[in-house]
Amino acid sequence: MSDHGLEAAKRQIGRRRDEVPTPALLLDLPKARRNIAEMANRMAGVPAALRPHVKIHKNPGLARMQIAAGAVGLTTATVWEAAAMVEAGHASILIANQVVGPIKVAELARIAGLAQVIVAVESLYNAQELSEAAVTAGSQIDVLVEIDVGLHRAGVRGAEAALALGREIARLPGLRLQGVLGYEGHCMLEPDRAVRVQKTLAANAALIALADLFDREGLDTTIVAAGGFGTWDITGANQRITEIHAGSYIFNDAFHRNLMPGFETALTVAATVTSSTGDSAVVDCGRKSIGIDRAVPEIVGDAAKIKFDHGEYAIHEEHVVLTLRESAALKVGDRVELVPGYSPTTVNLYDIYYVVEDDRVIDVWPIEARYGRTTAGIDPS
Ligand SMILES: Cc1ncc(COP(=O)(O)O)c(C=O)c1O
Repeated sequence: MSDHGLEAAKRQIGRRRDEVPTPALLLDLPKARRNIAEMANRMAGVPAALRPHVKIHKNPGLARMQIAAGAVGLTTATVWEAAAMVEAGHASILIANQVVGPIKVAELARIAGLAQVIVAVESLYNAQELSEAAVTAGSQIDVLVEIDVGLHRAGVRGAEAALALGREIARLPGLRLQGVLGYEGHCMLEPDRAVRVQKTLAANAALIALADLFDREGLDTTIVAAGGFGTWDITGANQRITEIHAGSYIFNDAFHRNLMPGFETALTVAATVTSSTGDSAVVDCGRKSIGIDRAVPEIVGDAAKIKFDHGEYAIHEEHVVLTLRESAALKVGDRVELVPGYSPTTVNLYDIYYVVEDDRVIDVWPIEARYGRTTAGIDPS
């Protein structure tokens, strides 16, 4: 966002939350703070530490609040998110993903000279390029071997192959093997709690089996990492798992609020009614301003629901069509707020949060880690 755009947004500070131009991303700060405190409180009851995933909010200030509440570091999905957190002064970042290719690997090696940077590795090719980059940069990159524990996304298939990779990594200069990672993402989607528990225990067992193999060979297992919001209490209760990477608790979007009670919804998209006819209305947000994957967005209050039409929810690029509770329940110019289906893919659509407390805009915060993708400024030569 240009400085001009940011200045314009800042002029909204002090106004009511229903006055900002729409669509707008509203961060309810007291609710987010209470969610951070609630998670810290819950984590105090399990052996694992919390290293919250910040792809959800992409904001170093919110990350600082999570660290102040006891988090041991941060988790990111990309090297650019990690760079934004390091530039803002954060000291320990896990990139729970593969970082492949010379420019991204060089950036990782650079920031590893400024903070502890840990990365998940699942191939020897990648381990070697990381090693070379760390040697060139004169830094040390911490590494976890990622194993597939059932999500079938990334991760080495099978404990023996993961052990073999661990052995290789332990020999590579510039890298420090720190342990293992096995993300049970396939369990987060499971609405039936009993099934979620059963699937998570199986996934955790696969990760622990690898940690045991590492121990037997004398390979480092300082970190045994897994977990998300949907499994924090199951994975976090495991004595062998040192840290979990829950992140969605901070906003508690539509997808998560039905899975994990006790947290508040701290992120909404504000929209304005642009059309109202009988029991139908239209608001000025859509696929370009609200994440609709994983769950359908929900309208705050009971005036309307998102229309289900032609076999799908009526969410277009710049229009959401509503079915009103009663005719004219919403008029042109009225405001509504929507809870995103999924927070990370909503936040990624915006430059700024309007930070609100009760019904007032109290600040405007840039979504810093979003910029990294294009402004990392790496010189590939
Ligand atoms: C590797 C990894 N760890 C942890 C998480 C946790 O996120 P959440 O809090 O949304 O469950 C994610 C989310 O996609 C992830 O990809």
